[in-house]
Amino acid sequence: MDNRFCAFNDKRIFAAEVSDEYEWVGFSAPSYFSHVPPYVEECMKDVSYNEKQKVFLIAGCGGNRGLAIQDMRKHVHNSKKEVDLEYMVMLSGSYILSYGSFPMWYQKFFIKQSYKKIHKMALDIKNGRKRKPLGKGIFYKTKYEAAVQHSIANYAMIGKQFKVSNKCSACEACIKICPVGNISLTDGKITFGDHCNQCMGCIQWCQNHAIDYQGKAAKRKRYHHLDVKRQELFQR
Ligand SMILES: Cc1cc2nc3c(=O)[nH]c(=O)nc-3n(C[C@H](O)[C@H](O)[C@H](O)COP(=O)(O)O)c2cc1C
Repeated sequence: MDNRFCAFNDKRIFAAEVSDEYEWVGFSAPSYFSHVPPYVEECMKDVSYNEKQKVFLIAGCGGNRGLAIQDMRKHVHNSKKEVDLEYMVMLSGSYILSYGSFPMWYQKFFIKQSYKKIHKMALDIKNGRKRKPLGKGIFYKTKYEAAVQHSIANYAMIGKQFKVSNKCSACEACIKICPVGNISLTDGKITFGDHCNQCMGCIQWCQNHAIDYQGKAAKRKRYHHLDVKRQELFQR
């Protein structure tokens, strides 16, 4: 497995031609406000494939994938390719500006389900299956699209207003986890740029709970995927 298209920890978004040695090319992205985050679109738009390569898409969500698959599919089609397999994986929601971490039993249940699904995907890929395209998420309503677009348009502006308290130890975990390189340390102080994509990784993974936006995260429990360990995440 080659994670070349993963934007994580890379200080810029990039995409390239996929090497011919790969039979499958897959994209896995979360659904944020019913769409994939802008950096995913940015990453996918310039990818070029060869004729034989097959494509799979995975939308991660907290229950409402909305148009995340459709967003990714659009870029594959723009590159004159069809998508062979599309999946949704449901995990705990992670939008700490609206809610805290879900109960442990809930998280465990959906993690277990997600592993079963991943196993199924692996079999489909191994067996070269083709599946019917996924429709939009059942909770998605076109009438909310204007509100959704408004939220997306505010990503950068909200991210710019994240505040760092004096609990900050300048450990730089937030800098390392930001998938779009939006956070930097300037004169010993953490500062936020203007291209936040709202993943909430900085707030969720700050050991000192030093990052917040308008006090919304203060009393909320942080969410970490139960099988993702801090050492693994920050050793890169
Ligand atoms: C800004 C933001 C918006 C989100 N919007 C949605 C949504 O519209 N529908 C949904 O099912 N989950 C939503 N979620 C939850 C995530 O899609 C879900 O937790 C995701 O699979 C976690 O991926 P991540 O850990 O890579 O962020 C949202 C999470 C964030 C941070």
